[in-house]
Amino acid sequence: MNERPDTRCATCGTDENALYDAVAKVIEQYKEKDGALIMVLHAAQEIFGYLPMELQEFIADGMNIPLSEVCGVVSFYSFFSTQKRGKHTIRMCQGTACYVRGGKKVVDAIKRELDVEVGGTTADGQYTFEIARCIGACGLAPAMMVDNDVYKQVNPAKVPAILSRYEETEAVEGGAEA
Ligand code: FES
Repeated sequence: MNERPDTRCATCGTDENALYDAVAKVIEQYKEKDGALIMVLHAAQEIFGYLPMELQEFIADGMNIPLSEVCGVVSFYSFFSTQKRGKHTIRMCQGTACYVRGGKKVVDAIKRELDVEVGGTTADGQYTFEIARCIGACGLAPAMMVDNDVYKQVNPAKVPAILSRYEETEAVEGGAEA
C-alpha cells in the first residue's frame, strides 16, 4: 500500500496510524467503484475530522490518481474541510433580522472572548466559529447556535455565560434559551 506520512499528530502527539489504517481499508473497499473518490473523502473526513494535505496525498497515492484530482474535489465541495475543526461549532447568525438587531456586536464579542476569527478554530481546539445566514429564529433575533443548541435574543453580555456551558468537554444537557 501507499506511503504514510509521519503519523504522530503535531498538535496533540497522538499516533494517527490507526486512522490511516481505517482510511486504507476504505480505499481498498471503494477504489474500483464509480464515484469512489467522493466516498473515500467523505469517509476520510469522518475518520480524521478534516482533510489535511498529507491525508489527501495518502488518498491520491492509495487510489493511484493525481493529487491534483483529489485537491480539486476537496476544494470544490464546501462540505470538505482542510482545516481541523473545533470540538464545538459556534454559528452566529448574520441574516438580515439578526444583523439589524445587533448580531454584529455579538460576532465581535465572540471574537474577543475566544480570540478567534470568523472561519477559524480556537488555539485549544475547542471551538470553530462560523457565520450563518438564518437559522430559523428570526422572531427572536439575534440568534446563534453552539453545535445543535439554539440561543435566542443573544447580546454581547450573554456570550460568556453561553460559552461557559461548553468549557468542559462534556455535552450540554437540555440546549438553550439563554
Ligand atoms: S436572520 Fe437570524 S435567525 Fe433568521
